[in-house]
Amino acid sequence: MIERIFAQFPAQRRCPFHPPEEYAHVQRDQPVCRIRLASGREAILVTRYDDVRAALDDKRLSADETRPGYPFLYEGAFESPLKGTFMRVDGEPHVRVRRMLAKDFTVKRAQQLRVHIEAIVDDCLEAMAGRARPLDLVQELAFPVPSRTICHLLGVPYRDREVFESNTRAMINHRSTREQVQAAVAAVYGYLDGLVAAKQASPADDLISRLVHEELATGRIERQELVTIVLILLVGGHETTATMIGLGTFALLEHRVQLDELVREPALWEPAVDELLRHQTIAQSPMQRVALTDLEIGGERIRAGDRSASMFIATLAVTSRSSTDRISASARLLRDSNSRSCSVGCSHDFPLSRSRCLATRCRCGRPTWACSASRHYR
Ligand code: HEM
Repeated sequence: MIERIFAQFPAQRRCPFHPPEEYAHVQRDQPVCRIRLASGREAILVTRYDDVRAALDDKRLSADETRPGYPFLYEGAFESPLKGTFMRVDGEPHVRVRRMLAKDFTVKRAQQLRVHIEAIVDDCLEAMAGRARPLDLVQELAFPVPSRTICHLLGVPYRDREVFESNTRAMINHRSTREQVQAAVAAVYGYLDGLVAAKQASPADDLISRLVHEELATGRIERQELVTIVLILLVGGHETTATMIGLGTFALLEHRVQLDELVREPALWEPAVDELLRHQTIAQSPMQRVALTDLEIGGERIRAGDRSASMFIATLAVTSRSSTDRISASARLLRDSNSRSCSVGCSHDFPLSRSRCLATRCRCGRPTWACSASRHYR
């Protein structure tokens, strides 16, 4: 297997809107290669779409970061806030939580939320119309829409958003120190713990109250785990979607022909959302896995227990798009296309899949909210 030395991995972008070019070279020349980081750590990098799909679906690859050989990205990587949570365990402990949350992430539930989400969008647009130009789309629309939606779904008062919005940024920022991440997690955790106590005393019609009633009160879950799950939903639910709205808008402004076509023919929005997800692939961090047994990926043999080869990294950003790629020439062409993207993860193991975003419960693999308006629901 060919070796590549990465002075920095993930590689740095030269343009904030395009994946680093190094990845396109790797994908073309050595789709499965051994990489060495500047730190001296080694790992396997998988970049070809079919290989990534197969690998993310492979139960012989573990997401458990307590396993020896887990490919931490940074030297001296500290205990991540996700350690021990359902996102970093395999098998039944993972499925148990997915099952617990499933009810609130169906296409039907997204459809029910639709009226509420439309009202939030209208509200934001109305507020924008009354303000002086230029406007900051991210502040005025991209953040408030998912933030208010996830608050509504969970039962978190939106007026308390400062607690989670600023701390979320500190949590996901690769440059944050261990102390900054710990302080941010502690602040949101403390806030949510108080909220869970409030829901115990006075339940409402929301996801936290449901979990308190169905899972905590019946002893099926510990309070600490419940608070952590809510924290993951709150963090995972707004930053991703906000970034997607911002970058998706920017991409369309750069592709005027497709934008005009969408304005003329709104039915094309459905495939266009898929295409924008592929084109942006905003979850840029590679997904880390450890091989539990010897296996083959893309014709390359990966051995479990081998100090270096037992590490495994799939890079989503590379898989979906190269740095010179543009949105498909005509949105019309998208109508029947398969956009071949791993932007929300991928897995055939429906609906309790490992490696696939919780917010994509629809069998087709699209985001649930995108499907709620589509033929899949009707
Ligand atoms: C454009 C929007 C979104 C994108 C691109 C996205 C992308 C992803 C990706 C790539 C993963 C796999 C991460 C990994 O396993 O390391 C993931 C997992 C997850 N996402 Fe999303 N996501 C989005 C929106 C949301 C929303 C709205 C929510 C919740 C309200 C959410 C909740 C989750 C959760 C809980 C997981 C972990 C699933 C598991 O481990 O079983 N995501 N998402």
